[in-house]
Amino acid sequence: MRVIVIGGSGHIGTFLVPRLVRAGHDVVSISRGTRAPYTESPEWAQVEVVTADREQEDRAGTFADRIAALRPDVVIDLLCFTLDSATALVERLRGELGHYLFCGSIWSAGPSVSLPITEQTATPPFGEYGIQKHQIARMLMEETASGGLLTTSLHPGHISGPGWAPIGPTGNLDPSVWTTLASGAPLAIPGLGAETMHHVHADDVAQAFELAVDHPLSAAGEAFFIVAPTALNVRGYAELAASWFGRTATLESVTWEEFRAGLSARDGETSWEHLVRSQVFSIDKARDVLGYAPRYTAEETVLEAVRWLVEAGEVEAELVV
Ligand SMILES: NC(=O)c1ccc[n+]([C@@H]2O[C@H](COP(=O)([O-])OP(=O)(O)OC[C@H]3O[C@@H](n4cnc5c(N)ncnc54)[C@H](OP(=O)(O)O)[C@@H]3O)[C@@H](O)[C@H]2O)c1
Repeated sequence: MRVIVIGGSGHIGTFLVPRLVRAGHDVVSISRGTRAPYTESPEWAQVEVVTADREQEDRAGTFADRIAALRPDVVIDLLCFTLDSATALVERLRGELGHYLFCGSIWSAGPSVSLPITEQTATPPFGEYGIQKHQIARMLMEETASGGLLTTSLHPGHISGPGWAPIGPTGNLDPSVWTTLASGAPLAIPGLGAETMHHVHADDVAQAFELAVDHPLSAAGEAFFIVAPTALNVRGYAELAASWFGRTATLESVTWEEFRAGLSARDGETSWEHLVRSQVFSIDKARDVLGYAPRYTAEETVLEAVRWLVEAGEVEAELVV
Protein backbone atom coordinates (compact mmCIF):
# COMPACT_ATOMS: atom_id res chain seq x y z
CA MET A 1 0.00 0.00 0.00
CA ARG A 2 1.03 3.60 -0.49
CA VAL A 3 1.35 5.03 3.00
CA ILE A 4 1.94 8.72 3.74
CA VAL A 5 3.41 9.59 7.11
CA ILE A 6 2.90 13.27 7.97
CA GLY A 7 5.73 14.28 10.32
CA GLY A 8 7.73 11.13 9.54
CA SER A 9 11.19 12.15 10.77
CA GLY A 10 10.36 12.65 14.48
CA HIS A 11 10.28 10.36 17.52
CA ILE A 12 7.59 8.03 16.18
CA GLY A 13 8.54 8.24 12.50
CA THR A 14 12.14 7.26 13.26
CA PHE A 15 10.79 3.80 14.12
CA LEU A 16 7.55 3.74 12.13
CA VAL A 17 8.86 4.63 8.66
CA PRO A 18 11.46 1.79 8.60
CA ARG A 19 8.81 -0.63 9.96
CA LEU A 20 6.43 0.27 7.12
CA VAL A 21 9.19 -0.14 4.51
CA ARG A 22 10.09 -3.57 5.95
CA ALA A 23 6.41 -4.54 5.75
CA GLY A 24 6.57 -3.88 2.01
CA HIS A 25 4.69 -0.55 1.84
CA ASP A 26 5.49 2.26 -0.54
CA VAL A 27 6.20 5.01 2.02
CA VAL A 28 6.14 8.80 1.69
CA SER A 29 7.38 10.90 4.63
CA ILE A 30 6.39 14.56 4.87
CA SER A 31 8.29 17.11 6.94
CA ARG A 32 9.88 20.55 6.58
CA GLY A 33 13.24 18.81 6.16
CA THR A 34 14.86 20.65 9.08
CA ARG A 35 15.90 17.48 10.93
CA ALA A 36 17.01 13.91 10.30
CA PRO A 37 15.42 10.89 12.02
CA TYR A 38 16.83 10.19 15.49
CA THR A 39 18.56 7.01 14.33
CA GLU A 40 19.75 6.08 10.87
CA SER A 41 18.17 3.11 9.11
CA PRO A 42 18.93 1.77 5.65
CA GLU A 43 15.18 1.59 4.92
CA TRP A 44 15.10 5.39 4.49
CA ALA A 45 16.81 4.94 1.09
CA GLN A 46 13.48 3.52 -0.16
CA VAL A 47 11.34 6.36 1.22
CA GLU A 48 10.01 9.24 -0.85
CA VAL A 49 10.70 12.31 1.25
CA VAL A 50 8.45 15.30 0.57
CA THR A 51 9.29 18.71 1.99
CA ALA A 52 6.30 20.78 3.04
CA ASP A 53 5.23 22.99 5.94
CA ARG A 54 1.88 21.72 7.23
CA GLU A 55 1.14 24.84 9.24
CA GLN A 56 1.81 27.21 6.35
CA GLU A 57 -0.10 25.08 3.86
CA ASP A 58 -3.02 24.65 6.28
CA ARG A 59 -3.22 28.43 6.52
CA ALA A 60 -3.14 28.71 2.74
CA GLY A 61 -5.76 25.95 2.48
CA THR A 62 -3.56 23.82 0.21
CA PHE A 63 -2.31 21.03 2.50
CA ALA A 64 -5.23 18.63 1.98
CA ASP A 65 -4.89 18.97 -1.81
CA ARG A 66 -1.18 18.18 -1.54
CA ILE A 67 -1.96 14.97 0.36
CA ALA A 68 -4.72 13.94 -2.06
CA ALA A 69 -2.38 14.54 -5.03
CA LEU A 70 0.06 12.00 -3.59
CA ARG A 71 -2.68 9.35 -4.08
CA PRO A 72 -2.27 7.51 -0.76
CA ASP A 73 -4.06 4.35 0.36
CA VAL A 74 -3.28 5.18 3.99
CA VAL A 75 -2.40 8.46 5.75
CA ILE A 76 -0.72 8.38 9.17
CA ASP A 77 -1.01 11.88 10.60
CA LEU A 78 1.57 12.45 13.34
CA LEU A 79 1.24 16.21 13.11
CA CYS A 80 -2.35 17.25 13.68
CA PHE A 81 -3.16 19.61 16.53
CA THR A 82 -6.41 21.35 15.61
CA LEU A 83 -9.90 20.26 14.73
CA ASP A 84 -9.85 22.63 11.73
CA SER A 85 -6.73 21.01 10.32
CA ALA A 86 -8.13 17.48 10.78
CA THR A 87 -11.51 18.42 9.34
CA ALA A 88 -9.95 19.94 6.21
CA LEU A 89 -8.03 16.72 5.57
CA VAL A 90 -10.98 14.41 6.24
CA GLU A 91 -13.32 16.39 3.98
CA ARG A 92 -10.82 16.38 1.14
CA LEU A 93 -9.90 12.69 1.46
CA ARG A 94 -13.41 11.26 2.02
CA GLY A 95 -14.10 8.69 -0.70
CA GLU A 96 -10.46 8.78 -1.89
CA LEU A 97 -8.55 7.13 0.97
CA GLY A 98 -8.58 3.67 2.56
CA HIS A 99 -7.59 4.58 6.12
CA TYR A 100 -6.71 7.76 8.05
CA LEU A 101 -4.77 7.25 11.28
CA PHE A 102 -4.44 10.13 13.72
CA CYS A 103 -1.86 10.55 16.48
CA GLY A 104 -3.59 11.96 19.55
CA SER A 105 -2.23 11.98 23.09
CA ILE A 106 -3.04 10.62 26.54
CA TRP A 107 -3.71 14.28 27.36
CA SER A 108 -6.93 13.88 25.37
CA ALA A 109 -7.94 12.41 28.76
CA GLY A 110 -8.14 14.55 31.88
CA PRO A 111 -6.88 13.93 35.44
CA SER A 112 -7.34 10.37 36.68
CA VAL A 113 -10.21 9.48 38.99
CA SER A 114 -9.84 5.69 38.86
CA LEU A 115 -6.88 3.66 37.67
CA PRO A 116 -6.10 2.32 35.19
CA ILE A 117 -7.89 4.69 32.82
CA THR A 118 -9.63 3.01 29.90
CA GLU A 119 -11.03 4.42 26.68
CA GLN A 120 -14.44 4.28 28.42
CA THR A 121 -13.51 5.82 31.78
CA ALA A 122 -11.29 8.73 30.70
CA THR A 123 -12.35 12.10 32.14
CA PRO A 124 -12.69 15.21 29.94
CA PRO A 125 -9.40 16.90 29.04
CA PHE A 126 -8.25 20.38 30.05
CA GLY A 127 -5.79 22.65 28.26
CA GLU A 128 -5.96 23.58 24.59
CA TYR A 129 -3.66 20.78 23.38
CA GLY A 130 -5.60 17.95 25.05
CA ILE A 131 -8.99 19.46 24.22
CA GLN A 132 -8.12 19.69 20.51
CA LYS A 133 -6.76 16.11 20.49
CA HIS A 134 -10.00 14.94 22.14
CA GLN A 135 -12.19 16.86 19.71
CA ILE A 136 -10.29 15.53 16.69
CA ALA A 137 -10.62 11.92 17.91
CA ARG A 138 -14.36 12.41 18.55
CA MET A 139 -14.87 13.94 15.09
CA LEU A 140 -13.01 11.00 13.51
CA MET A 141 -15.12 8.47 15.40
CA GLU A 142 -18.31 10.19 14.19
CA GLU A 143 -16.92 10.38 10.64
CA THR A 144 -16.42 6.61 10.50
CA ALA A 145 -19.69 5.82 12.32
CA SER A 146 -21.62 7.87 9.77
CA GLY A 147 -20.18 5.88 6.87
CA GLY A 148 -17.46 8.36 5.90
CA LEU A 149 -13.72 7.89 5.98
CA LEU A 150 -12.32 4.87 7.83
CA THR A 151 -10.34 6.38 10.71
CA THR A 152 -8.40 5.34 13.81
CA SER A 153 -6.96 7.41 16.67
CA LEU A 154 -3.97 6.30 18.72
CA HIS A 155 -3.21 8.20 21.93
CA PRO A 156 0.42 7.69 23.03
CA GLY A 157 1.86 8.30 26.49
CA HIS A 158 5.12 10.20 27.12
CA ILE A 159 7.11 9.10 24.09
CA SER A 160 10.69 8.15 24.94
CA GLY A 161 13.61 6.45 23.26
CA PRO A 162 17.27 6.83 22.36
CA GLY A 163 17.99 10.27 20.98
CA TRP A 164 16.11 12.69 23.22
CA ALA A 165 15.46 13.40 26.91
CA PRO A 166 12.60 11.50 28.55
CA ILE A 167 10.17 13.12 30.97
CA GLY A 168 12.11 12.66 34.23
CA PRO A 169 11.12 11.55 37.74
CA THR A 170 9.67 14.94 38.71
CA GLY A 171 7.68 15.25 35.50
CA ASN A 172 9.91 17.66 33.60
CA LEU A 173 12.95 17.76 31.29
CA ASP A 174 15.40 19.34 33.76
CA PRO A 175 18.70 17.44 33.17
CA SER A 176 19.99 18.29 36.66
CA VAL A 177 17.54 15.73 38.12
CA TRP A 178 19.76 12.97 36.73
CA THR A 179 23.02 14.44 38.08
CA THR A 180 21.39 15.08 41.47
CA LEU A 181 20.30 11.44 41.69
CA ALA A 182 23.68 10.25 40.37
CA SER A 183 25.55 12.23 43.05
CA GLY A 184 23.38 10.97 45.90
CA ALA A 185 22.30 14.55 46.76
CA PRO A 186 18.72 15.10 47.99
CA LEU A 187 16.08 15.59 45.31
CA ALA A 188 13.07 17.81 46.07
CA ILE A 189 9.78 16.20 45.10
CA PRO A 190 6.35 17.81 45.32
CA GLY A 191 4.18 16.20 48.01
CA LEU A 192 4.43 12.46 48.56
CA GLY A 193 5.70 11.65 45.09
CA ALA A 194 2.76 9.35 44.45
CA GLU A 195 1.69 11.02 41.19
CA THR A 196 2.10 8.89 38.09
CA MET A 197 3.46 9.30 34.58
CA HIS A 198 2.86 6.85 31.76
CA HIS A 199 5.73 6.52 29.32
CA VAL A 200 5.88 4.54 26.11
CA HIS A 201 8.78 3.63 23.85
CA ALA A 202 8.62 5.30 20.43
CA ASP A 203 9.05 1.90 18.78
CA ASP A 204 5.99 0.59 20.65
CA VAL A 205 3.98 3.56 19.37
CA ALA A 206 5.25 2.67 15.88
CA GLN A 207 4.23 -0.95 16.47
CA ALA A 208 0.69 0.17 17.32
CA PHE A 209 0.40 2.28 14.16
CA GLU A 210 1.68 -0.62 12.06
CA LEU A 211 -0.86 -2.96 13.67
CA ALA A 212 -3.69 -0.51 13.03
CA VAL A 213 -2.63 -0.26 9.36
CA ASP A 214 -2.68 -4.07 9.21
CA HIS A 215 -6.13 -4.35 10.85
CA PRO A 216 -8.20 -1.54 9.33
CA LEU A 217 -11.56 -3.15 9.93
CA SER A 218 -11.03 -3.87 13.63
CA ALA A 219 -9.42 -0.45 14.09
CA ALA A 220 -12.14 1.43 12.18
CA GLY A 221 -13.79 4.22 14.16
CA GLU A 222 -11.84 3.32 17.31
CA ALA A 223 -9.44 5.13 19.63
CA PHE A 224 -6.72 3.41 21.66
CA PHE A 225 -4.38 4.45 24.47
CA ILE A 226 -0.84 3.37 23.58
CA VAL A 227 1.47 3.18 26.58
CA ALA A 228 3.92 0.83 28.31
CA PRO A 229 2.38 -2.11 30.21
CA THR A 230 2.80 -0.32 33.56
CA ALA A 231 3.49 3.25 34.71
CA LEU A 232 5.91 4.92 37.16
CA ASN A 233 5.24 7.28 40.04
CA VAL A 234 7.59 10.07 41.11
CA ARG A 235 9.22 8.31 44.06
CA GLY A 236 9.49 4.94 42.31
CA TYR A 237 10.98 6.52 39.20
CA ALA A 238 13.46 8.55 41.29
CA GLU A 239 14.50 5.47 43.29
CA LEU A 240 14.90 3.44 40.11
CA ALA A 241 16.95 6.17 38.42
CA ALA A 242 19.22 6.56 41.46
CA SER A 243 19.91 2.81 41.34
CA TRP A 244 21.13 3.08 37.73
CA PHE A 245 23.91 5.30 39.10
CA GLY A 246 24.65 2.98 42.02
CA ARG A 247 22.85 5.23 44.52
CA THR A 248 19.85 5.21 46.84
CA ALA A 249 17.57 8.18 46.27
CA THR A 250 17.26 10.74 49.06
CA LEU A 251 13.89 12.34 48.45
CA GLU A 252 12.81 15.55 50.17
CA SER A 253 9.10 16.07 50.19
CA VAL A 254 8.25 19.77 49.75
CA THR A 255 5.10 21.74 48.94
CA TRP A 256 4.31 22.54 45.30
CA GLU A 257 5.19 26.20 45.98
CA GLU A 258 8.61 25.23 47.35
CA PHE A 259 9.13 22.77 44.51
CA ARG A 260 8.35 25.37 41.84
CA ALA A 261 10.55 27.95 43.56
CA GLY A 262 13.57 25.70 42.96
CA LEU A 263 12.92 25.38 39.22
CA SER A 264 12.68 27.53 36.11
CA ALA A 265 9.11 28.66 35.39
CA ARG A 266 9.08 26.33 32.37
CA ASP A 267 10.22 23.22 34.26
CA GLY A 268 7.76 23.98 37.08
CA GLU A 269 4.90 24.22 34.61
CA THR A 270 5.99 21.04 32.78
CA SER A 271 6.03 19.15 36.11
CA TRP A 272 2.59 20.46 37.00
CA GLU A 273 1.17 19.53 33.58
CA HIS A 274 2.45 15.97 33.89
CA LEU A 275 1.74 15.33 37.56
CA VAL A 276 -1.64 17.03 37.94
CA ARG A 277 -3.11 14.50 35.50
CA SER A 278 -1.46 11.58 37.36
CA GLN A 279 -2.51 9.10 34.72
CA VAL A 280 -2.10 5.34 34.33
CA PHE A 281 -3.72 3.74 31.29
CA SER A 282 -4.93 0.28 30.45
CA ILE A 283 -3.64 -1.26 27.21
CA ASP A 284 -6.29 -3.99 27.25
CA LYS A 285 -8.25 -2.57 24.31
CA ALA A 286 -5.15 -2.09 22.13
CA ARG A 287 -3.97 -5.60 23.03
CA ASP A 288 -7.35 -7.27 22.43
CA VAL A 289 -8.33 -5.42 19.25
CA LEU A 290 -4.98 -4.72 17.57
CA GLY A 291 -2.72 -7.36 19.13
CA TYR A 292 -0.53 -4.59 20.65
CA ALA A 293 2.30 -6.19 22.64
CA PRO A 294 4.75 -3.54 23.88
CA ARG A 295 8.37 -4.68 23.70
CA TYR A 296 9.49 -2.25 26.40
CA THR A 297 8.45 -1.79 30.01
CA ALA A 298 8.31 1.80 31.27
CA GLU A 299 11.53 1.10 33.22
CA GLU A 300 13.37 -0.16 30.10
CA THR A 301 12.02 2.74 28.07
CA VAL A 302 13.36 5.46 30.36
CA LEU A 303 16.63 3.64 30.99
CA GLU A 304 17.29 3.46 27.24
CA ALA A 305 16.70 7.20 26.94
CA VAL A 306 18.92 8.01 29.95
CA ARG A 307 21.65 5.71 28.62
CA TRP A 308 21.56 7.76 25.44
CA LEU A 309 21.75 11.02 27.43
CA VAL A 310 24.87 9.76 29.23
CA GLU A 311 26.53 8.33 26.11
CA ALA A 312 25.83 11.52 24.15
CA GLY A 313 27.42 13.59 26.93
CA GLU A 314 24.15 15.40 27.67
CA VAL A 315 24.29 14.19 31.27
CA GLU A 316 27.63 13.85 33.03
CA ALA A 317 27.26 10.79 35.22
CA GLU A 318 28.23 7.14 35.20
CA LEU A 319 25.70 4.36 34.86
CA VAL A 320 26.28 1.08 36.67
CA VAL A 321 23.64 -0.83 34.69
N1 LIG B 1 6.30 13.73 22.39
C1 LIG B 1 5.45 13.11 23.18
O1 LIG B 1 5.79 12.66 24.29
C2 LIG B 1 4.04 12.90 22.72
C3 LIG B 1 3.14 12.27 23.59
C4 LIG B 1 1.86 12.00 23.14
C5 LIG B 1 1.49 12.37 21.85
N2 LIG B 1 2.39 13.01 21.04
C6 LIG B 1 1.96 13.34 19.69
O2 LIG B 1 2.90 12.77 18.79
C7 LIG B 1 2.90 13.55 17.60
C8 LIG B 1 4.30 13.98 17.32
O3 LIG B 1 5.03 12.84 17.06
P1 LIG B 1 6.57 12.81 17.35
O4 LIG B 1 6.80 13.01 18.83
O5 LIG B 1 7.11 11.64 16.65
O6 LIG B 1 7.01 14.16 16.58
P2 LIG B 1 8.31 15.02 16.74
O7 LIG B 1 9.44 14.21 17.22
O8 LIG B 1 7.94 16.29 17.42
O9 LIG B 1 8.58 15.32 15.20
C9 LIG B 1 7.74 16.10 14.43
C10 LIG B 1 7.84 15.70 12.98
O10 LIG B 1 7.03 16.56 12.20
C11 LIG B 1 7.85 17.39 11.36
N3 LIG B 1 7.27 18.73 11.43
C12 LIG B 1 7.20 19.57 12.51
N4 LIG B 1 6.53 20.69 12.19
C13 LIG B 1 6.17 20.56 10.88
C14 LIG B 1 5.45 21.38 9.97
N5 LIG B 1 4.96 22.58 10.31
N6 LIG B 1 5.25 20.92 8.71
C15 LIG B 1 5.73 19.70 8.32
N7 LIG B 1 6.42 18.89 9.14
C16 LIG B 1 6.63 19.31 10.40
C17 LIG B 1 9.26 17.27 11.94
O11 LIG B 1 10.27 17.45 10.98
P3 LIG B 1 10.78 18.93 10.57
O12 LIG B 1 11.10 19.64 11.86
O13 LIG B 1 11.97 18.68 9.71
O14 LIG B 1 9.64 19.56 9.84
C18 LIG B 1 9.21 15.81 12.40
O15 LIG B 1 9.27 14.97 11.26
C19 LIG B 1 2.04 14.76 17.85
O16 LIG B 1 0.78 14.55 17.27
C20 LIG B 1 1.95 14.81 19.36
O17 LIG B 1 0.77 15.45 19.77
C21 LIG B 1 3.64 13.27 21.44
